[in-house]
Amino acid sequence: MRISVGSDHAGLELKRLLVEHLAFLGHEVVDLGTNSPDEVDYPDFGAAVGRSVASGGTDFGVCVCGTGIGMAIAANKVHGVRAAVVHDVSSARLAREHNKANVICFGARLVGTVVATDSLEMFLRSEFGGGRHLRRIEKIAALDECQP
Ligand code: RB5
Repeated sequence: MRISVGSDHAGLELKRLLVEHLAFLGHEVVDLGTNSPDEVDYPDFGAAVGRSVASGGTDFGVCVCGTGIGMAIAANKVHGVRAAVVHDVSSARLAREHNKANVICFGARLVGTVVATDSLEMFLRSEFGGGRHLRRIEKIAALDECQP
């Protein structure tokens, strides 16, 4: 699969590890940065990953920041993105099965490297469950047009 990956400075080391792991698994990785420890703003990288997935340029996205939360909020602003913050293998599986998440977000300050790599593998091999979950995904899509 083709997978875009992005992080801010807080997520840089975990991103590097996940990029290596994805390549080891045989995936094509599109690394959207950051690639230096200098302080950056996570919305820039969350949006870049979101755009790459929503445009069809990549099959899935991976975001890493300190908590995963900021990157997820930013990525979810892009229409068609369903970004999920994941803390373990179970939430990774359910993010695919129930929510058809297409972007997975990690908090490098909160999860260990083994949990992150195992969760990423689970995310990539889990399938959307369809059925009642499809109706809910469609309702989420309709919210793209929601005004306050
Ligand atoms: C950076 O200090 C931190 O705020 C960022 O990595 C992330 O945790 C935001 O959600």
